[in-house]
Amino acid sequence: MKLKLSIVSTLGAALALLAANPAARATTLTIDAGHPGAAINPAMWGIFFEDINFGADGGLYAEMVKNRSFEFPDPLMGWIKISPSLARGELAVRGEDPLTPANPHYLRVHSEGSAPFGISNPGFRRMGVSQDESYNFSIEVRPVAGAPVLEAQLVAADGSVLDSARLEGFAAGWKRYTLVLHPKESDWGARLNVLMTTKGTVDLDMVSLFPEHTWKNRPGGLRADMAQMLADLKPGFLRFPGGCIVEGSILDRRYQWKKTIGPVGDRSLLINRWNYEFVHRPTPDYFQSFGLGFFEFFQLCEDIGAQPLPILNCGMACQFNSGELCPLDQLEPYIQDALDLIEFANGPETSVWGAKRAAMGHPQPFQMKMMGVGNEQWGPQYIERYVRFAAALKAKHPEIMLVSDAGPSPDDERFQFLWPKLRELHADIVDEHCYANPPWFFNNTHRYDNYDPNGPKVFMGEYAAQSVDVVSPKNRNTLECALAEAAYMTGLERNAAVVRMASYAPLFGNAEAWQWTPNLIWVDNHRIYGTPDYYAQQLFSRNRGDVVLPVSSDDPASTSFFASAVRDNQTKDIILKVVNASSQAAPAALHLNGIPPGAQKAQATILTSDNTADENSFDQPRKVAPVTVSIGEVGGGFDYTFRPNSLTVLRIGPGRE
Ligand code: AHR
Repeated sequence: MKLKLSIVSTLGAALALLAANPAARATTLTIDAGHPGAAINPAMWGIFFEDINFGADGGLYAEMVKNRSFEFPDPLMGWIKISPSLARGELAVRGEDPLTPANPHYLRVHSEGSAPFGISNPGFRRMGVSQDESYNFSIEVRPVAGAPVLEAQLVAADGSVLDSARLEGFAAGWKRYTLVLHPKESDWGARLNVLMTTKGTVDLDMVSLFPEHTWKNRPGGLRADMAQMLADLKPGFLRFPGGCIVEGSILDRRYQWKKTIGPVGDRSLLINRWNYEFVHRPTPDYFQSFGLGFFEFFQLCEDIGAQPLPILNCGMACQFNSGELCPLDQLEPYIQDALDLIEFANGPETSVWGAKRAAMGHPQPFQMKMMGVGNEQWGPQYIERYVRFAAALKAKHPEIMLVSDAGPSPDDERFQFLWPKLRELHADIVDEHCYANPPWFFNNTHRYDNYDPNGPKVFMGEYAAQSVDVVSPKNRNTLECALAEAAYMTGLERNAAVVRMASYAPLFGNAEAWQWTPNLIWVDNHRIYGTPDYYAQQLFSRNRGDVVLPVSSDDPASTSFFASAVRDNQTKDIILKVVNASSQAAPAALHLNGIPPGAQKAQATILTSDNTADENSFDQPRKVAPVTVSIGEVGGGFDYTFRPNSLTVLRIGPGRE
């Protein structure tokens, strides 16, 4: 039976456009529900995380004090001396008998007590404090002389004190002291002062301020709004820690997971490679505290139901930088790090590394199932190292799927060299990266149609449409970019037998401290918004389905109409995803073959806007966001008109309103 839709009023605009464009020809789309294809990996749509654009420090890691441990090469970077005219005092960064060897510097403050004297920290591009929040202040103090009294103050941009509290009666030796501050007003340009109000001398370290309400209310945890945005994606996996940050510009600056676990004070600071990578976007105050380290990564994965996908350095520094290589006969510590990470994640409490996980509060294993060897490497040097990693890892842990990589481009000579080699090696899954302009994505929706289903699988591990050019600081997160990615994702979904995972990159951008654009989610010190790209990712992820359904069109060569379909085995819904990249409405006759007889209920979720250049912003966070409308009852065939410049997800099933 063929039913005509009763189009709800929100779709009136589409009909009006259709009337204005009588030439628009209806596309016939046939979905063959009777012949399901490949099973879709439950972890198909995931998240790429990297500490770029202040993604971790100054971002997801909720610490509000920058350079809290005086370990930046300029140890007072980020700190301002507070010394009113009557004050008499001295600041000195020292290293004798530090708090921990991993954290070798601290600040000695001496005051004559004539007026409050000390230091002020404006955080990562100013502190955003809310009157509805409480802030946990902590500090390591070692009294040296006198009877020191310290005052912690939250100060507004206009200099007024929002709240303050005192610490005194310090015991001998290093000891951590805490207090809670409750700002009387919200202020998005605040800072933290730590002042000595009496005559005396103290040593200070690990000066820290966190909101009380972090993600899951964990003390010293993650920013709740940012973690929630990740959870809202319902991601299949979380890739961590990157990205080029895995590699380091030189090997000595590579990401080493073992240095990111245990007490935060024992995690050594490292310069962030994005501190100096782009001369046009220098960020001299960008360092990695590793407060968000590998334990927190596994914990976040567990929280949001994502499979952990750690990516490890394979003995190669970034080939866009030094390209430094660990000699093959010295690779063993790198491989051992990978083996030990598996034990840290999955080993019993009685194992060396499993015990460290348990000591951090997680005796149960994290159930890690995959691991990446290298990020964006290329050449025979990569293959030589991958082979050694794969031999050792597969011998001991055949259960772990290994992600190898195909370099930084989806089709250049580096890619052409690596793929055949990885195929010969029977690699499990190959990480492809693609940053290109929107036309590339629209033109490559059939990229995977002819990949060998018996060869290595594909992980589309980094991709994003670039509105201007790759790494151009002018790139914007426009609707056009989101539609280009969504069109491409229909191709990934149709080829789910080959493409097993995909993730947009990068993830976060701090609007006041970014190095790279576009990004999936933008934040400042108190706000957050998802881009149109975020909502496209979310529509695919939350409508993943379990099995691919064949879709055929009577206009397969269309350059503006892209479709894929899946079935959700639990709800029995058929889920059709369509991108109409034309500025005209696209009428379609939909045929659902092989569905049970009788009426089905349908709903449409539509991502569109008036203009393909439209973006979201802090002021208009949902200018381009999905809207769901009920379509009512349909049968085995019905007509539907897709909005101009839209991504539409149609869910058709027995129980849907
Ligand atoms: O996503 C930003 C960067 O792009 C990643 O760090 C790197 O892998 C790629 O070149």
